Amino acid sequence: MAAGNLDKYKSDGTKLGNLLEWVDARFPATAMWRQHLSEYYAPKNFNFWYFFGSLAILVLAIQILTGVFLVMHYKPDASLNAAGVPVAFASVEYIMRDVPWGWLIRYLHSTGASAFFIVVYLHMFRGLLYGSYRKPRELLWLVGVVIFLVLMATAFFGYLLPWGQMSYWGAQVIVNLFSAIPFVGPDLSVWLRGDYVIGDATLNRFFSLHYLLPVLILPALVVVHLIALHEVGSNNPDGIEIKKKKDERGIPLDGIPFHPYYTVKDIVGVVGFLMLFSVIVFFIPEGGGYFLEYNNFIPADPLKTPSHIAPVWYFTPFYSLLRAVTYPLFGIDAKFWGVVAMGAGVVIFFFLPWLDRSPSKSIRYRGPIFKIFLAIWVVCFFILGYLGVLAPTPGRTLVSQICTVIYFAFFLTMPVWSKLDKCQPEPDRVTAK
Ligand code: HEM
Repeated sequence: MAAGNLDKYKSDGTKLGNLLEWVDARFPATAMWRQHLSEYYAPKNFNFWYFFGSLAILVLAIQILTGVFLVMHYKPDASLNAAGVPVAFASVEYIMRDVPWGWLIRYLHSTGASAFFIVVYLHMFRGLLYGSYRKPRELLWLVGVVIFLVLMATAFFGYLLPWGQMSYWGAQVIVNLFSAIPFVGPDLSVWLRGDYVIGDATLNRFFSLHYLLPVLILPALVVVHLIALHEVGSNNPDGIEIKKKKDERGIPLDGIPFHPYYTVKDIVGVVGFLMLFSVIVFFIPEGGGYFLEYNNFIPADPLKTPSHIAPVWYFTPFYSLLRAVTYPLFGIDAKFWGVVAMGAGVVIFFFLPWLDRSPSKSIRYRGPIFKIFLAIWVVCFFILGYLGVLAPTPGRTLVSQICTVIYFAFFLTMPVWSKLDKCQPEPDRVTAK
């Protein structure tokens, strides 16, 4: 019997044993526990990069829990109160000042949004390092990219809710981008806003979607993500398939039961994460203006455009791709092509499993072209992110154009260089380094 198996509690005459038997006769609780935990054999060489999947689940839970409590006091209403302050903005201030522990719930949620993106970016980067998107994990990866898109949409909708200057003008800029689409654009942007400018109708629909996506859609997608993972099995830092070498009982030789080994290991990640997260929430919740922008402490004013409008840091690499396109093409405005570049910057991840033709999956056995190109790509991603926060100048635009070319070249030329690269032979068994 595998360690951590629930069977040992059954038929032992105790109340818990009886309850388990009763449930099992009606719902496959023990069978599911076995399939996904005590008899799910994961490679024994997971390293710290494998913390971020469980951490993403944790942050999703924190966001849903704190969000539900915020909604108990938040009001999605753009009209002005007796003091001339928008009701939505005032309700957030009320949470911060008057609701017991409201400041903590709000800071957990606002810092949690940034934490979510940090965790998910690291989780995706692990996929790049070890080729976790390659066969047979293509569908798992595709579901991951859909999760990423939904996460971005959720964060965008959520940022409008405090109805500060950045909420208002950020949404104005992004929704206006849709008006650059030929023919349907102007009507589309009015349809999205529900008005000719960002207004009460926009605030209400963004609030509705900001609740729906993370509470219903994201958890469902995460379940699909995990079912897909458990169907094919986890990849590992060596990028080799542990299912190819099994013992006489059909158990992978390099596999260990997820529970208790990795549940315990993941707890280490959770504790480390919560320590770091608490330091930020309690001591630097605004994150130097990166997690909560200073302009968003000013109530939204449709008559006063801030001198500089920038999205939150997690969108800025893609925002830079948008601003890097400054030339019209085929008689269509540069703004439209900017939107195309921004969208393509995310959508290109869908194609990754088929762009990469390397004989080995993991960076450990891949050649120098991959290692150098990936390092340059990461530097470009950071530069794009940094430039996206700043106001554009001709020099900055040039740098972001160079980084944009490198960003896309990495993916588009991959079918060629990934084949040519000099890989080392993969080992037969995991190296447990
Ligand atoms: C809410 C967001 C997400 C959650 C909760 C989540 C959860 C998880 C969990 C628990 C695992 C198994 C543990 C681990 O390998 O770290 C996993 C694996 C994986 N996830 Fe995600 N994930 C999310 C987003 C994404 C995204 C955005 C992508 C890629 C675009 C992605 C791609 C993958 C891949 C390829 C694996 C298998 C990795 C391997 O076996 O090496 N996930 N995910």
